[in-house]
Amino acid sequence: MNIYAHRGFSGYYPENTMLSFKKCLDLNICGIEFDVHKTKDEKLVVIHDETIDRTFNGCGLVQDYTLKELKNFKSSIEGFEDNDDCKIPTLEEVLELFLPTNFILNIELKTDNIHYKNIEKDVIDLINKYNIKNRIILSSFNPNSLKICNEIDSTINTGLLFEIYNNQILDLAKNLNANYIHPPVNLVTEHLLNTFYKNNFEVNVYTANSTEDMIKLINFKVNGIFTNYPDKLNNIKKKF
Ligand code: G3P
Ligand code: CA
Repeated sequence: MNIYAHRGFSGYYPENTMLSFKKCLDLNICGIEFDVHKTKDEKLVVIHDETIDRTFNGCGLVQDYTLKELKNFKSSIEGFEDNDDCKIPTLEEVLELFLPTNFILNIELKTDNIHYKNIEKDVIDLINKYNIKNRIILSSFNPNSLKICNEIDSTINTGLLFEIYNNQILDLAKNLNANYIHPPVNLVTEHLLNTFYKNNFEVNVYTANSTEDMIKLINFKVNGIFTNYPDKLNNIKKKF
């Protein structure tokens, strides 16, 4: 069972920052998950929301700032405001950090509400620049983004995220040639997992932070789990 640190080691450190990613390097885990948007000057940056309001000391849309402007914002998380590793990272900075490792990198394309022009191509170009496509999962809630990724390079693994299950999810994942399905932990049942497994999908579940959810998913033998507490999940996993 593969453990992915969700938005980095985000249970203890500001999510999607170099600090939260660096803190993963010594963990015995499979990989990390993080979210990508584009700036006004078309740079790829790692942040969860479309806006900087929740996690930084400013407000407004990521796409309305240049990278240089975004780098001036500080983390709004108490105790981390003056830490330079807690500014908004670029995708390139994150890829470079993990280049010497074997970590799988799950890059979530956050195109659910804003469709950033050419984001899929730009992300894939960067993956190719570092020659790490065998360590990548491109995931999205937006099927169109996965379709575009598949058209650009069908050899890069993709994962379909969903929030609400309906009968079309399986067909959608098949039509997209997705390799993975990423369901939310609250919807996962053995029956649903078996449906995905029978159709040759690997399943990574988001986001299990409670002991109860972690034990449920380990017992269900899911392929992978996204968690903000990879250390805790590792300890629980050892007992099984
Ligand atoms: O990729 C799994 C999970 O991160 C999806 O939800 O909102 O945390 O990006 P969210
Ligand atoms: Ca995500």
